[in-house]
Amino acid sequence: MSHKFTQYRPLLNQSLTHAVEYLESLPDRPVDNLISAESLRQSIGGSLPMQASDPAQVLGELAANVEPGLIGSGGPRFFGYAIGGSFPVALAADWLVSAWDQNVPYYVASPGTSVVEETAAEWMLELLGLPETAGVGFVSGAQEGIYTALITARNSLLNNAGWDVATRGLYNAPRITVVASDQIHSTIKRALSMIGIGVEQIKTLPTDANLRILPESIADVMAQCEGPTLVCAQAGCIDSGAFDPFEALAAEVKRHPNAWLHIDGAIGLWSAVSDSQRHLLKGIELADSWDTDGHKWFNMPYDSGMVIVRDAKLLVTAMGGSSMGDYLTDAIAKPDRNAINFGISASRRARGVPVYAAIKALGKQGIEAHLDHCCALAQRLAGTLSQVEGITILNDVVSNRFSAQFGNGNEAFRNRLTERVVHRLQQDGFCYPSTSGYKGLKTMLFSVLSCHTTTEDIDDTAEAIIRTFNDELAQLRAETTAALCD
Ligand SMILES: Cc1ncc(COP(=O)(O)O)c(C=O)c1O
Repeated sequence: MSHKFTQYRPLLNQSLTHAVEYLESLPDRPVDNLISAESLRQSIGGSLPMQASDPAQVLGELAANVEPGLIGSGGPRFFGYAIGGSFPVALAADWLVSAWDQNVPYYVASPGTSVVEETAAEWMLELLGLPETAGVGFVSGAQEGIYTALITARNSLLNNAGWDVATRGLYNAPRITVVASDQIHSTIKRALSMIGIGVEQIKTLPTDANLRILPESIADVMAQCEGPTLVCAQAGCIDSGAFDPFEALAAEVKRHPNAWLHIDGAIGLWSAVSDSQRHLLKGIELADSWDTDGHKWFNMPYDSGMVIVRDAKLLVTAMGGSSMGDYLTDAIAKPDRNAINFGISASRRARGVPVYAAIKALGKQGIEAHLDHCCALAQRLAGTLSQVEGITILNDVVSNRFSAQFGNGNEAFRNRLTERVVHRLQQDGFCYPSTSGYKGLKTMLFSVLSCHTTTEDIDDTAEAIIRTFNDELAQLRAETTAALCD
């Protein structure tokens, strides 16, 4: 089989056709997809191909066979978890990244995209109101951002305690205590379990009804932490959008002889861009490190995340990018930005390019308008639902998300009804909230992140939710009565 440069144009044109047909179908196609894994395996799987096939046919079959198994998370009525669409300009820039096929960790391997990432990093810091000298790495998502930040924190805390992890490892190293809320995201715990600290080291801070750390609890818990201490807080809790009290946390961290404050802002760090939301993040700039996602509220195509460390030198040292093999010595010696110093990947695509393109195309004002619109839509829907007898909104809607429960009566009944309402909505395919938990309750998690969601989508979704609630309530009541009569 021959490969020619002239093959790219027809194949990319074909890809463009499939992609645009898919994207333009998103407002009307069912959000969820009920196709079984078995059917997908039948059309997608099969034995290992031994002979070459026509690439155009492979591409056509790929689109035809995979699309029935896609969830319409890029569409206007996907409201589950924290998954959003893509700004058109970001997706288009991402295609260029694939076509350019650059490996960005070393400036010499891609000067153009290195400068794009350097610029995007500077713009990000300005947009978010974080120190302009901080180090920024473009990572695969918040999980990798958290992992990278916590490794940097671990090394720095232990270094301050006279222990060099890079040379001595963790054997017999001083213990690090972790302080985090009972609502800290599971990816923080996952990172702790992977970097040799362990989740058993967590001392828990209690939270209020909005899932925000109780400020009055911080001093007591910090007083119990004598040695190196890692404090983790969040900007934008998945279930309530709550922002922890950063000023109070930072004050206690400052008082401590060897503590580090990390803020997981996977969703909510972006609120710093909005004049009307920034007050929620008071004190955010006092932390030592932050992570956020591009692929959530900032509508980058997957995958896109950022890690930010106040003292860039600590990030660079922790990533150890300057101690690579001989074949990289000259590349690394260049004074320009070598992305390997700001993240774990030794090779990666130029993830900062779509970030750059979106910031340039939308400007601060366009980003702010997107963020404010999402919050207004979440508040609109929560307002409508809260008027309905039997629907309870559990949190103050301060951001782009809320949690709700359906029904009155005992907790088991409400949990069951809530689960049924959400599953029915998903199966009906018009809109897609997800289930979650809220202080032990089963809930509907509703998240507005997409640049494609309109007021009409929200009003139509409100109607669908209320109708489904009434149907499921009647049905569950009938089933419960029938069960009692049996
Ligand atoms: C608060 C928070 N932190 C971290 C993450 C992990 O993000 P990612 O899946 O992009 O790594 C999430 C995901 O929803 C989140 O909501």
